[in-house]
This record gives sequence, C-alpha cells and structure tokens, in this order.
Amino acid sequence: MIKTVTLPLAAALLAIAVAAPQAAQEDPWWDPDEGRTFPAQLEYANANGTLRLLLEDGPMETEGHPFFTSKGPDGRACVTCHQPADAMSLSIESIQRQWERRGAKDPLFAASDGSNCPSLPQGERASHSLLLDHGLIRIARPWPGKDYEGKPLKPDFTIEVVRDPSTCNLDKRYGLNSDEPHISVFRRPRPVANFKYIEAMGFAYDPKAGMPLTVDPETGKPVSGNLMADGRVLSLTAQMRDAASAHLGFLDELDAKDMERILDFERRIYVAQQRDAKGGDVDAAGALGGPMTLMTSRAGLLGSDGGMPVWAEFEAWEKMSDAEKAKLPKDVLEFRESVARGARAFREKTFLISDTSGINTPIGFGNPVRNSCVFCHNMSHMGMDVAPGQVDLGTTNMPFADPAPHLPLFRITCTGKPHPHYGRTILTHDPGYALTTGRCSDVGRITLQTMRGLSARAPYFSNGSAKDLRAVVDYYDRRYTIGYTEQEKTDLVNLMRAL
Ligand code: HEC
Ligand code: HEC
Repeated sequence: MIKTVTLPLAAALLAIAVAAPQAAQEDPWWDPDEGRTFPAQLEYANANGTLRLLLEDGPMETEGHPFFTSKGPDGRACVTCHQPADAMSLSIESIQRQWERRGAKDPLFAASDGSNCPSLPQGERASHSLLLDHGLIRIARPWPGKDYEGKPLKPDFTIEVVRDPSTCNLDKRYGLNSDEPHISVFRRPRPVANFKYIEAMGFAYDPKAGMPLTVDPETGKPVSGNLMADGRVLSLTAQMRDAASAHLGFLDELDAKDMERILDFERRIYVAQQRDAKGGDVDAAGALGGPMTLMTSRAGLLGSDGGMPVWAEFEAWEKMSDAEKAKLPKDVLEFRESVARGARAFREKTFLISDTSGINTPIGFGNPVRNSCVFCHNMSHMGMDVAPGQVDLGTTNMPFADPAPHLPLFRITCTGKPHPHYGRTILTHDPGYALTTGRCSDVGRITLQTMRGLSARAPYFSNGSAKDLRAVVDYYDRRYTIGYTEQEKTDLVNLMRAL
C-alpha cells in the first residue's frame, strides 16, 4: 500500500516566504506569566543542532493566554511542563537547570506531581529524584477508575504493589490502600504540537481491535485515540480538564473561553528539528525535513499527501547527483547519506515482532509477524500510528523492560482469561492502557508518541527508560533480536536526531 514518493511540496515550500528567524531567546526556559510574544518562528539550539517552532498565523501575545498563565495553587502553567525549547515536552537538562536555579521553589517541582510523592519532605532533592534523574511526572490514576462514559470499570485483574521506591503507592493518603485508592505511575510529558496529525483519523475503524473507532461521548464523533500514554482521554478538551485537575491542582479556573484559546494554540503550533550540527538544514538539497513540511502538508489517510511513506522526507539525499555530492563537505555528505539509509532501514529492515499485544493479538496478524519499524510507526511526517496506537512493546512489562529500580513495580493477576502472552500474572512498572480499559490483556500497552523534535526532549519512551536515541535502538535490537549492524544503528540514530 506504500506508493512511490513524489515530492509535490518541494516547489510549494520554496515559494513560501518564512518570517526572519527570531534570535534564539537568551533564556530558553519559559516561566509562567512572562508575557513574551510567541513569534511566528522560534529556534532553539540543542546538542544535535537546532529545533524550530512555527506558529501558524503567528505571532501571538502570551500575556494572559491560558497556556502561559499560572493557574492553581502551585503557580504553574501548561508551559511549565511543555517548554518550547524542549519541543513542547520537557528535557532532563531543563529540569536539572531549574532545580539548580530555584530548587523545590520552582513550580515545576510542586508536591502534587513534581515530586515522588506529596507526603515526602519537599525541600530535599531525593524527594524529586524521579523528575530530576528520569524526567518523570507522577500520574495518579484512581483505581478502579471509570470508563469514557463515566461508568465504573469492572476490571478483569487485580493490582498489588510489589516495590514502591516512590513511597506513593503504599502511602496512607495517596496509595492503593488509601480511602481514595490511586495507583501512581511515572511518565514523560508528551509534546504539545503537530496536533493536525495526532487528531487525524487514518482509518474508519480500529484495526487493532477489529472494531469501530471509539466515539467521544461529548461530541458523538469517532476519535483518533492517540492521546496520552494510556489513552485515558479522547479529545484535547478532555485532556485539558485532566491536566487542569491533575497537574495544576484546579479545575474551575479553566472556562470555555480558556479552553478554546488553548485548543487554538495547540492546533497552530508545529515543531521539528530544523538544522543538524553535522548535516546542516534538514530541508536542504530537496529534502523535506523540518516543521514547514508539517505545517503545509495535509493530514489524513496514512498521515498525509497520498500516503507518502514515513521519512521519505529524506529520499532526495539518496538521489543526489555526483555533481551535487561533489559540492558538499565530506562529513555533511556522509551524514546525509546516513540519514537517508536510516529512513530506509526504518521502513525496510524487517524482524520478527512477537508477543506484542496490540499487534500480535488481538488482531489476526499472527505471532510472530515479520515486519519493520514502520509496521507500528506508519503515519507520514510523524511516525506515530495511524490506527489508535496502544501497543505493548514491553517497555514497562517484565521480562522485557529495562531494569529500573527507581520505578514502582506492580503484580497484575488476571481474574478472567489469562493474558495471551504473559499468562495469569504480569509484573509491570505501568499497566498503561489497562488502567483505562480494565482489561488484563491491555497491561503495558502504551500509546505511540510522535517522533518529532526527539533531539530536544530526551529521555525516551513513556517511562523515560531510554536515555538517548542509541538506547532506543538498542532496546529494539534486544527486544526483537533484530541483529542490527553498527552501521544500521548509527543510521537509525542519525535519522531520528534529524526529525
Ligand atoms: C506537571 C507537568 C504538566 C503540566 C503542568 C501540564 N502537562 Fe500536559 N502532560 C504532562 C504529562 C506527564 C503528559 C503525559 C501524560 C500521560 O501520558 O499519561 C502530558 C500530556 C499532555 C497532552 C497529550 C499529548 C499527546 O500527544 O498525547 C496534552 C495535549 C497536554 N499535556 C496539554 C497540556 C495542557 C493544555 C496543560 C495546561 C492546562 C498541560 N498539559 C499541563 C505534563 C504536564
Ligand atoms: C510493535 C510495534 C513497534 C515497532 C515495530 C516499533 N515501535 Fe517504536 N514504539 C512503539 C510503542 C508502543 C512506543 C511507545 C512505548 C513507550 O513509550 O513505552 C514506541 C516508541 C518509540 C520511540 C519513542 C518516542 C518518544 O517520544 O519517546 C521511538 C524513538 C521509537 N519508538 C522508534 C522506533 C524504531 C527506531 C523502531 C524500529 C527499530 C521502532 N520504533 C519499532 C511501537 C513500536
């Protein structure tokens, strides 16, 4: 179903005049209530090059804008955890810098979820170690929770706490055995950008479940199902309510007008790496990297533009003529060729995908099934899944998860049918989608993230278990015994750092 690439946009893109880049802000950190102007184009340096943000129909005043204005008792704003320099997510580097500057007083480290548990002494570094050392925010989910229609879940599994380094799962007030039982899992902030794609529906049904797409009870319309690690909200509006009550500690202050303004901003902001320290501009020599392609492409089936294969952005770099090649410095040329090979390896290098709920079950792809990275990461320009993307890659479940003594460990016991791959009991750091559905077969299924702006927002995976891009590739190599060569690993890393 993958068509050959045409580059219909190249000419159009060249014709679009881009506002002059605003000089990189001296301080990359955005505090709440600063009242800066958000320009039409904004750039930030990172270890691998330069990230670019584009605000469609920008610039925009952030003074009084609800995404940038402090709300609730902790003085936080949405921007506190969704920082422009960090591709609208949050990097460990930024977190540690804020701690050095202001310690526990910075609103980022608020007791509610910027610490390992609110009952710990908040002035101490150790009480914020999950955020400081692993980039993780505490997410407290009521257990058992409610379904999308607000009816209590009837889970087909039980949860016990096996290990509780954060102290929050056994805490008298916040834990699983408290008066209001909650399970605390620890997750990375997901990027708030490029939503044209995240909200787009690639299929009229959910091929993973073989069922119609979930319908948002608020609007009566089917939804993409690609939000939050555990898919607990169905729309950006529902997400805002979740964020307002969970991270900002208030709910009533966000009125309909505020929500509309946040939504408007979320749908206009695009982010991607624009320049690589080794390879130069990622839209040079006919390539289509960078945020401009994102902003100007159509979102739809398989992402956009007639199903352009994922990361075909870089095909032009493989097709350069000898004359073009001769004009480039050797290291630039080598890097560009490596990115193009990485893009092809991503699509074409196959391996056996096994025991992966959301892929091998419950759908009929078989177990194992031979395919490539693209089997799951298929949306053009974005690399997430066009189908609702909850998949158990093993990042949070034993025996596949990396050792993570800092994370909680839960024992799940299936009370109905055993899990198709793990049997009756599962050890997990984060049950993921199962916290939303109450189904034991969903334990460890996590919604795929987008693959843009990766250079600006390490660490990776929802639980931050891959400290850099090489660790991501190494994880897959181990998990599916792929046997990548050193060169293939380097190519994949180079591809991802250019996104
Ligand atoms: C304390 C940090 C924090 C604050 C403050 C915060 N967020 Fe988030 N945000 C997160 C985390 C962590 C996640 C991922 C949660 C998960 O996957 O369960 C997230 C996820 C999201 C997502 C989902 C993106 C996706 O692709 O799935 C959106 C949208 C979002 N936040 C918007 C907002 C808005 C709007 C606000 C302000 C009302 C806000 N956030 C405030 C930490 C924060
Ligand atoms: C079986 C489906 C599947 C395959 C195949 C797959 N992925 Fe993933 N990928 C996922 C899931 C699910 C996640 C989210 C897991 C998590 O956060 O714990 C993910 C997350 C990622 C992330 C993290 C993004 C972030 O923001 O943290 C990167 C990068 C990534 N994959 C790259 C790759 C590469 C490279 C390959 C090929 C070697 C690949 N993936 C193959 C399902 C898959």
